[in-house]
Amino acid sequence: MKSALKPNHYFDHDIFEAEKSAIFEHLWIFACLRTTINEDQAFCTRTIGHYTVIIQNFSGVIRAFHNSCPHRMMPLHNQEFGQGRLICPYHGWVFDENGLVKTIPKHDELYQFCDAERNELRLKEFHVSIIGEFVFVNLSSHPIPIESQFSAKLCDELSSISRHFGDVAVHVNIPVQYNWKLNFENVLDYNHIPYVHPKSFLPLIKKEDKSAEGNTKNEHTRFPNPDKNLIAQSWNSTTAMTVAHWPWHDFVDAYGPRDTYHNFFLFPNVNFISVGGLIFLVQQFVPIAPDRTEVRFTLCAARENVKLPALPAILRGHLKSEVEVLFEDVEQIEALQRSLSEKSSTVNHGAYEHRLVSFALAYLDLMDEK
Ligand code: FES
Ligand SMILES: [Fe+2]
Repeated sequence: MKSALKPNHYFDHDIFEAEKSAIFEHLWIFACLRTTINEDQAFCTRTIGHYTVIIQNFSGVIRAFHNSCPHRMMPLHNQEFGQGRLICPYHGWVFDENGLVKTIPKHDELYQFCDAERNELRLKEFHVSIIGEFVFVNLSSHPIPIESQFSAKLCDELSSISRHFGDVAVHVNIPVQYNWKLNFENVLDYNHIPYVHPKSFLPLIKKEDKSAEGNTKNEHTRFPNPDKNLIAQSWNSTTAMTVAHWPWHDFVDAYGPRDTYHNFFLFPNVNFISVGGLIFLVQQFVPIAPDRTEVRFTLCAARENVKLPALPAILRGHLKSEVEVLFEDVEQIEALQRSLSEKSSTVNHGAYEHRLVSFALAYLDLMDEK
């Protein structure tokens, strides 16, 4: 079956700009794990669509604001993660938890705003929705219900698994030279594993379950009808996996059985995996340019039952292995991106790739609506 996407969907500047509004400013987009901004005034910053966004904890309530001061549009927070009140670094304006300006130093001497003008001085606020520990932001002023993007079953499973997340997470952002869609398609395509990861990932998948799509592995006996509904693009599966036993496993509250690989696909740009309910990794494919993406990894372990002094080293070790696997993909996908041009022909999908066919149709539906 021919893909509904054309080569220029992966390199055209106008299409890339249109995606910002039609996809990233329309859907619920993953922002961070709540565990990473757990303390009062802890924050992270993200670029979503045309906006930079602050996601901040105000005494346990998570809110999102445009990271742009209403005075001269200076960003309030410049770090990716941090902790601190909403104070503009340029002229010291202070904002409260509702985004309203609270203090303007030297107001009467220098600014002299009337009350009506002053009431307009607020940070633009965005909608936030939290599923388990997964914090999502929606930039639309009238967001779609999150239930129309993620099924109740998927939300329940995300909530259950995230109850096991430990508080310590490690992060890495990896710049890669390809379109963000190629990475989401790559994680949907389990048949690349034997060829791209023969030594790293393949040996861990149990023989009887080499499809790596677990409980949906029989679907490719015939070509299922593509499902272009938005809600069908986010789903999860499990696969039998060999998980080597390490002593620290006995001291954490793992999720589910150990010999299982959990794989969640959160449309449009997140793949969340868990190895044995012991290690949890969020991979997000953040669009930077038509042919550039930032792959953002956030990795944590199952919650400790006793304090593990070695935990930071354990997390760094796992992160390093995950990055090594990613680089095996990156080498191939960057080559694919470089080969694309107006002259490229259209992709031919086989039956096993019905998820990619559905992804393309759902994507085009959203692009057409706008
Ligand atoms: S730009 Fe923010 S206080 Fe001036
Ligand atoms: Fe891969």
